[in-house]
Amino acid sequence: MEVVELKDGWGLEHVGIGERDARQPGPGEVAIEMRAVSLNYRDLVFVRGGYGPSGTLPRILLSDGAGVVVAAGAGVSRVAVGDLVCPITSPAWLTGPIREQYRDSMLGISVDGVMADRIVANAEAIVRVPKHFSAAEAATLPCAAVTAWNALVMAGTKSGDLVVTQGTGGVSLFALQFARALGATVVVTSSSEEKLQRARAMGAQLGINYQRVPEWGKELRRLTGGRGADLVIEVGGAQTLPQSLRAVRAGGTVALIGVLSGGVAELELGRVVTQGLRLQAVTIGPRDSFEAMIAFIEQHNLKPVIDERQFSPPEIRAAIATIGEGRHFGKLVIEL
Ligand SMILES: NC(=O)c1ccc[n+]([C@@H]2O[C@H](COP(=O)([O-])OP(=O)(O)OC[C@H]3O[C@@H](n4cnc5c(N)ncnc54)[C@H](OP(=O)(O)O)[C@@H]3O)[C@@H](O)[C@H]2O)c1
Repeated sequence: MEVVELKDGWGLEHVGIGERDARQPGPGEVAIEMRAVSLNYRDLVFVRGGYGPSGTLPRILLSDGAGVVVAAGAGVSRVAVGDLVCPITSPAWLTGPIREQYRDSMLGISVDGVMADRIVANAEAIVRVPKHFSAAEAATLPCAAVTAWNALVMAGTKSGDLVVTQGTGGVSLFALQFARALGATVVVTSSSEEKLQRARAMGAQLGINYQRVPEWGKELRRLTGGRGADLVIEVGGAQTLPQSLRAVRAGGTVALIGVLSGGVAELELGRVVTQGLRLQAVTIGPRDSFEAMIAFIEQHNLKPVIDERQFSPPEIRAAIATIGEGRHFGKLVIEL
């Protein structure tokens, strides 16, 4: 079977098509014919060697994908042949908070990922996708959507809250959709006026161009009459954290998710302490969060935002490079 793998070293030039023997599922396992995958910023970080020597090469790439169960081993009852499913990003993480050992089995990083014609997975480590989703739509969910969902759940987001989402990538647009469905008001930041308009069309009530208004945290307070946000979806990291701390209300939450502008930040500790701010790290989430999110998606009939750029598997290098350019809107998907 064909796979897309990183072999012989770090860097996009080491990404290519490879061959592996297909195996039959053993007891408790299923074979999945993969139909679509989606890209995350972490895939670019991994290819560049940013996760350090996490396991050995070659490594089959990507954590996020969806496919059809084509065979089931003895004792499998969670899913059936013919079901459209997604593998979860950390197969051992079924419930509860993150534990160190879950990091040893992160798909596409510490173990082989999903960019293959066919994979074999533990039936416990997959979920049935929303009933109204295609494979391409389902492939957007495992990392970005679950992270956005958990950020909102951990902050206890409810109707009437004010949520700030940064940029218009995968995590942030899912956060926008979920927050709106929960009845929250959403303010989006973006580097692009056109993207801000698209985010408004999706239900965001306000948009701030963070390049034109570098002090967007202060601006958000002004625009909201000094109220401040209940939750900031913080994906920018070093350069955005100071503004996030300005934007959030006393007692509010900054969900620490990404490090797009750098991973070492200066922290205004006095403000954090005196305002009683909650800095809540979010690391994707367990299977039961994924399933709760799927129920919510079905209940609210939501659909993911997929960028119009189309790539085929042989164009994988260009697709991974594109995620670093930041021109996309929503998720980059490759149909297999
Ligand atoms: N903790 C976790 O479990 C977890 C899970 C998923 C992702 N992440 C991390 O979260 C971040 C976002 O992931 P993603 O998959 O959503 O990425 P993505 O789809 O590549 O989105 C990136 C978008 O963020 C915006 N952006 C870039 N630099 C920015 C900056 N300095 N300030 C504000 N916005 C900026 C840009 O939007 P505009 O073009 O609109 O400006 C860009 O398109 C990454 O760092 C990723 O590694 C973490």
